[in-house]
Amino acid sequence: MDGNGRWAKERGLPRTEGHKIGAEVFEKICDHCCDIGIPCVSFYAFSTENWARPQEEVAQIMDLLRHWLQKAEERQEENRRRGIRLRFIGEMSKLPDDIQQLAQDAQKKTKAHSNMICNLAVNYGGRQEILQAAKRLALQCQRREKDPMSLTEEDISKAIYTPEFPDMDLLIRPSGELRISNFLLWQSAYAEFWYSNTLWPDFTTQELDKAVADFAQRGRRFGGAQ
Ligand code: FPP
Repeated sequence: MDGNGRWAKERGLPRTEGHKIGAEVFEKICDHCCDIGIPCVSFYAFSTENWARPQEEVAQIMDLLRHWLQKAEERQEENRRRGIRLRFIGEMSKLPDDIQQLAQDAQKKTKAHSNMICNLAVNYGGRQEILQAAKRLALQCQRREKDPMSLTEEDISKAIYTPEFPDMDLLIRPSGELRISNFLLWQSAYAEFWYSNTLWPDFTTQELDKAVADFAQRGRRFGGAQ
């Protein structure tokens, strides 16, 4: 969800205003994904590198997250009606205790919802995720539960944060940036990229529809010949 800072700067507002509108757009786009039948969508809300931002900005992003989680709690019935299951990935243990608790509750309460998974990456890093998976598998090998030479890609897919998710099909990056920025590195091996110059607070449901329509036109070969 990139470009919040620039969006605010263009309007002479503090960066934090951009994040505030960005959080509203997140909710709108998430609901729209559910409405158009996308089974799983992930949003990059806060990276392991984002702690380097000014303390005030980090605190405000955490506040937005807290506020949204409290609202999700109040809107449990609406979540049930929509059938959205909430999931979090990242090193959650480094987040404020109340946010960890709220996130856990939201995951538990929406566990049975089956229309769409909305996955929020918070304190997430793709390399960190792969490193954690490697450590988990190394321990299983040490305990002789697995044989190192027989490890498969599937073993890694099962050891990362998202064992129950499908591989990523489409990666949308707004705000004109052309980088993957450590996002879902393992899952995006064959993802189709879609870039847009729109800053995240200006991102619309129509633009999402356009990305999905473009995606539907792509010929995906997964390394094979056409
Ligand atoms: C990147 O844009 C954005 C972030 C690091 C924060 C995104 C967080 C939210 C939208 C709110 C999270 C809350 C919920 C409820 C999901 P940037 O600040 O780097 O923008 P810039 O590149 O223009 O500076």
